[in-house]
Amino acid sequence: MDFILVRRPAPRAQRLDACQSPSPAKDASARPTPTTLAWITDPHFDHAKLETWRDWAEELLSHQPDGLIMTGDLSEGDDVSYQLQCLAETFARPIYFVLGNHDFYGKTIGETRRRMIELCRDSDHLHYLTDTGPISLAENCVLVGDDGWGDATQGDYAGSIVRLNDFALIEDFRAADPSSWQAMLQQEGRQSAERLRQKLNSLPESVKHVLIATHVPPFREACWYEGHTTNDDWAPFFVCGAVGDVLMETAKANTDRMHTVLCGHTHHDGDAELLPNLVVHTGYSRYGTLDIESLIQVTTAGFTVPRTKTAP
Ligand SMILES: [Fe+2]
Ligand SMILES: [Fe+2]
Repeated sequence: MDFILVRRPAPRAQRLDACQSPSPAKDASARPTPTTLAWITDPHFDHAKLETWRDWAEELLSHQPDGLIMTGDLSEGDDVSYQLQCLAETFARPIYFVLGNHDFYGKTIGETRRRMIELCRDSDHLHYLTDTGPISLAENCVLVGDDGWGDATQGDYAGSIVRLNDFALIEDFRAADPSSWQAMLQQEGRQSAERLRQKLNSLPESVKHVLIATHVPPFREACWYEGHTTNDDWAPFFVCGAVGDVLMETAKANTDRMHTVLCGHTHHDGDAELLPNLVVHTGYSRYGTLDIESLIQVTTAGFTVPRTKTAP
């Protein structure tokens, strides 16, 4: 099937809605095995002009990827589902995604996820990885994912003067007493880690390569900012330590399996090798521009994640 480029802007849209148990991967077994996956992170579509969106879509189409992976911060609140519908119509290929903190703005976390799950159940192309089990990409390669959250487990939460807009714009935090914010962040991280643990523990031994998509860097070593890793002020909000613990534990228990992590959130790119079989790629972003972070090659030998550009 050829791609269909929808000559339509990506304006505002309707609302999305929680993840209990993961849905089965819808039609993964019936789908052709992807060989190239375009990785996009933090597009923040609500900041991009229509012309920018069109140019980006045309470039993406020219590469003829077999699918898209998006690691969160697609837009904000009301616009997220509309953007996803536009992408589904335009690319007519599997679109695997997780949500970032901006995607929850204007609503509660649970409502956002519930609406997103409903949206994906009505689409042949949209796959919300947080609500989806492992997806086979090749004979011994799978994709899993989860939103993740800056979970206040790393750095100095109490001493930091950093407070993200999340606390004012995500309804759960806005409605809560600030004294409870740290515990709420930690809970989001734990829940994300537990969902991911279940997916990783379910993999058969035959799986030798696992691609893990998440929004928030799971390790300080992967939390890049202008070529350096995060400090104690930012780490509480830019590292999901609970997911990092699960990944480290899983990689150590499965030394014959390669774990390749894709994430964003910091808007600064970098690669970090935590273990010989655990590598984290963090993607670049700039508000108002749209990029393709990588055209990931998927073979039975694993994943190759070349950068398609370098940060200015
Ligand atoms: Fe972002
Ligand atoms: Fe983010």
